Amino acid sequence: MSSRPLMRGIRPPRVYPKGRTSPYAIALTVLLVASAFLLVLIAFGIFSLPINSPSPSPKHERPRRARSAVQSSGDGLGEKGQQWTEVISWEPRAFIYHNFLSKEECDYLIELAKPHMVKSTVVDSTTGKSKDSRVRTSSGMFLQRGRDKVIRAIEKRIADYTFIPVEHGEGLQILHYEIGQKYEPHYDYFLDEFNTRNGGQRMATLLMYLSDVEEGGETIFPDAKVNSSSLPWHDELSECGKRGLGVKAKAGDALLFWSMKPDATLDPLSLHGGCPVIRGNKWSSTKWMHVQEYKA
Ligand SMILES: *[C@@H]1O[C@H](CO)[C@@H](O)[C@H](O)[C@H]1NC(C)=O
Repeated sequence: MSSRPLMRGIRPPRVYPKGRTSPYAIALTVLLVASAFLLVLIAFGIFSLPINSPSPSPKHERPRRARSAVQSSGDGLGEKGQQWTEVISWEPRAFIYHNFLSKEECDYLIELAKPHMVKSTVVDSTTGKSKDSRVRTSSGMFLQRGRDKVIRAIEKRIADYTFIPVEHGEGLQILHYEIGQKYEPHYDYFLDEFNTRNGGQRMATLLMYLSDVEEGGETIFPDAKVNSSSLPWHDELSECGKRGLGVKAKAGDALLFWSMKPDATLDPLSLHGGCPVIRGNKWSSTKWMHVQEYKA
């Protein structure tokens, strides 16, 4: 047993003679002077701390958004107008990508499809086969996925915007609605086994408008949780277009909506239709995207 166990390791404080400064005091003074010097440098902007602060871009630099308007070769066809995204509904989830396609791309798709248009059918929910229908009176045709350079560029763009791989998409469908033609409200998802065998359920739809429509022809979501009378474009909608969330067809714009909620259950609020065209005619192109790879 030690006689001074508590004192072990503790040294008596060192005493400095009067008039001499301790090394600690010197170190502290140097540190203070250095800090003050650094603060002066920062204040005058001579030195900047390496923090990721958004630095203001030089005035002569074009804003990013405007830059996409001058894209041309290598990414589809022609020049697109200013692109921006508009959230139109969260229930169902629906968005408009303004100027998604250029005028040239719209015309290209129409010209490609024109010679091959046939009367549209709908899918029979019991047999899974196509059948004629009075609920859908348009005409249409399918363009094979990846069939040419322009289509590939558009399909790549769709994948980039939706985060769904190109391989999950069906071929683009081109649709034409003349005066009086419409598509009654329906779901894009399937309730039968047959149609989900390839690629599983349809998850989302991108509807691209290839032409303006003078009157009518809106895409309508009758059950959307949106106050349609507060829409900025409400006065431009036809009677049909006012019966829910109505979206006016504008050439180049694309409407993305989800048939599934983020938890992968079906979203019945995605019920949608095409209002009858009253004046003009409507060309559109649809990309259906599945939860898995869709074998072409
Ligand atoms: C819908 O919007 C209109 C116009 O903004 C407003 O007058 C009306 O009270 C709203 N209705 C509901 C149910 O919120």
